[in-house]
Amino acid sequence: MAKMISEDVGVFYQHYPKVAAIVTARAEGKHNAMTVDWHTALSSNPPLYGICVAHRRFTYRLIVESKEFGVNFMPSEAVELVHAVGSSAGQQMDKFQEFDIARDRPVKTRVPILRDAYAAFECQLVDDREYGDYRLLVGMIVAVHTLREAFTAEGTLDLDKVSPVLYLGREFYVDTSRTA
Ligand SMILES: Cc1cc2nc3c(=O)[nH]c(=O)nc-3n(C[C@H](O)[C@H](O)[C@H](O)COP(=O)(O)O)c2cc1C
Repeated sequence: MAKMISEDVGVFYQHYPKVAAIVTARAEGKHNAMTVDWHTALSSNPPLYGICVAHRRFTYRLIVESKEFGVNFMPSEAVELVHAVGSSAGQQMDKFQEFDIARDRPVKTRVPILRDAYAAFECQLVDDREYGDYRLLVGMIVAVHTLREAFTAEGTLDLDKVSPVLYLGREFYVDTSRTA
């Protein structure tokens, strides 16, 4: 099989699939949710998590204001919600009301935690840096919410119980179910 080499990098979807997660924030009496697929653990001790957010996102403003954000990992049943909050602008609507998003209480921050998430991090912002047209926001994870039955005794995700939302780029999503 022949490989193609190109110096025209384009949108470089080659590193997909990515787990699509929902980032949440609250400030000035407003709350919001947006989808991110560019996110990663950065350090285990201290526990640091990074999200890449374009500065024009309404969520970015709320995070800068509050110095906090949540990262919510969603099961494949929530793929439509993942797409919806990633395709709508929080400046013009209350996404929690519009998409009927149920919440749990945070314990260390004021960020909304999504009830349907199989796991969620509460993060305190420790760094905000520009990289090209995006910002890398680094958060210290100060609380972790987990749906116990979604994880094995070793603490890894049990794919027989939950299938994360995987994003391929453009409008394409897949899941890890054996039958998909
Ligand atoms: C699957 C998916 C992944 C996305 N990943 C990112 C991302 O990593 N970073 C980002 O800034 N925007 C990302 N977006 C776009 C934002 O979620 C989208 O612009 C959203 O409407 C922003 O909402 P807000 O303006 O209310 O904050 C993604 C959208 C989708 C559908």
